Parts: sequence; structure tokens; C-alpha cells
Amino acid sequence: ERMRNRRFDVAPTAGALGAEINGVDLSEPLSDPQIAELRGALNEYGVIFFRDQKLTPEQHIAFAERFGPIDINRFFQAAPGYPQIAEVRKEPEQKVNIGGGWHTDHSYDQVPALGSILLARETPPRGGDTMFACMNRAYEALSDGLKKTLGSMRAVHSSRHVFGAASAYVKDAGGRLGNTESAVQDAVHPVVLRHPESGKKILYVNPAFTTHFEGWTAQESAPLLAFLYQHAARPEFQTRFQWREGSIAFWDNRATWHYAVNDYHGARRLMHRITVQGGPLQ
Ligand code: SIN
Repeated sequence: ERMRNRRFDVAPTAGALGAEINGVDLSEPLSDPQIAELRGALNEYGVIFFRDQKLTPEQHIAFAERFGPIDINRFFQAAPGYPQIAEVRKEPEQKVNIGGGWHTDHSYDQVPALGSILLARETPPRGGDTMFACMNRAYEALSDGLKKTLGSMRAVHSSRHVFGAASAYVKDAGGRLGNTESAVQDAVHPVVLRHPESGKKILYVNPAFTTHFEGWTAQESAPLLAFLYQHAARPEFQTRFQWREGSIAFWDNRATWHYAVNDYHGARRLMHRITVQGGPLQ
């Protein structure tokens, strides 16, 4: 399936989400209608991919700023000289990767990020793919009864157990994550969001940052959260992206989960990530 858009070629990558956008050079300044078309594709597909882009860090930043102000990540190492760019790095001798579990970035913030623009600088000879999952499809596939129950619930999200000083993840990341004293964010969000731009209903809990349902204990919440995580991780809600140097993934952080596959031990993988600020959730 291939659709000819007004300006770009949009090739969906799976049934649920994802599309590769061809015929655009992101190092050039884009027009407002071109940016609007990319926003439209992001809303429709949840994650959009680009290939063979030769961007300097300045061009990466300039592209991101067309979608909103940059959200500087508190916990990641920045690319040298560019505080706006978070480095997602794994060295040949490191075992743990960053983002190696299903999550959505920044859900612990009151106003979670719109999305991230991840650019591959150095890729392993094989492996190191990123998987994405569509939280609208996951929501739609639930029973009417469970949709109704979840529709009135809210969930608590936190950065503390992931990025705080006591976190095993921070220890295992061996210096790639820092600033642990800043891991004090807690936020309460509806379990089912109405997406601020597409209007689609989104299942908005994730295994990394959601701690419990509001008004429920963590123990009471665990079985229902475990069901939702297992359900949302079904392959039919997913797409998988194989990187090359110069590939870009731009995902909507409200509408999707992502998972960095850690199957390339002994090789380096270096990505540059810029996160764009979002608007209030409803
Ligand atoms: C992330 O979770 O933001 C990083 C994803 C990746 O490196 O593929």
C-alpha cells in the first residue's frame, strides 16, 4: 500500500502504525504546509520514519523546533556542545541499553512530551532495532466493559523508581544516566486519553513509569496493569524499525510505546534524541 500525498510519499510499515516518508530532505528548511503534512502523518501513523538524512546537530535542532519548543531531558547525557540533544549510547563493552523495555517518554511529567525525533549516528552491523506499539489499537481491542471501567480511572506515573538514585537501571547504565536528585516527578493522568490532536482514544499507561491506579494500592493495581501491558504488547499492534546511519524515527509519545531491542552486544550504537514539548492532556 502506497499513497501519493501532495508533497511526500508515505509508505505504511505495518497494519497498526508506522509509515516511512520518502522524498523529503530534512536538512533543508521546510515550508509551513510541508510541516503541517508531516504533523498530519504523525497523527495518522503514530510514528514516521525517514531514511538517509544527513543532518548536522544544528539542522536536527532546527527541524525539531518546527514542531514545538525542545524539552531538555533531565537524566540523559547531552551530545557534547548540544544540551538540546540527548545521547542514547551503548558501547561495545556495555551490556545494558537505554530504553530496553516498553515505555513512553516523560509520562511522569504533568504535561508529557509530544514526541521524540531519534536520529541514528552509528548503528551496529546487525540488530539494535526499535519497536513501536499503537496505544489506540490497543485501546480499541479491549471489551466494552473494560473500556467503560478504564474510562473513569486515572493512573499515577513517576520518574523516581526509574531515574532516582536507588534505581538499578541508573546503576546498570554506568554513567549514561545522571542527575538522580532531579527524579522527583509524579503525575496523574487519565488511563484513557483523548489524543489532543487526532481525537483518537489512547490507552495511556506504560510498564516503565506507571506505578498504580489513583485510589488503588500498588498491589491492587498490579494484576490489571499486568493484563493491560500484556494486551498492549501484542504483535498486531506493533511495527519494527531497522536502523541505518542517517535513519530517523519521529514518534508521538502520547499515542505509542517504544522498545529499544538489545541484541547487539559487542558493537556500538549511538543515537541522537531530541524531544519536543507537548500540550496538556485531557
Ligand atoms: C528511547 O527509548 O528513547 C531510545 C530508543 C532507541 O534507542 O531505539
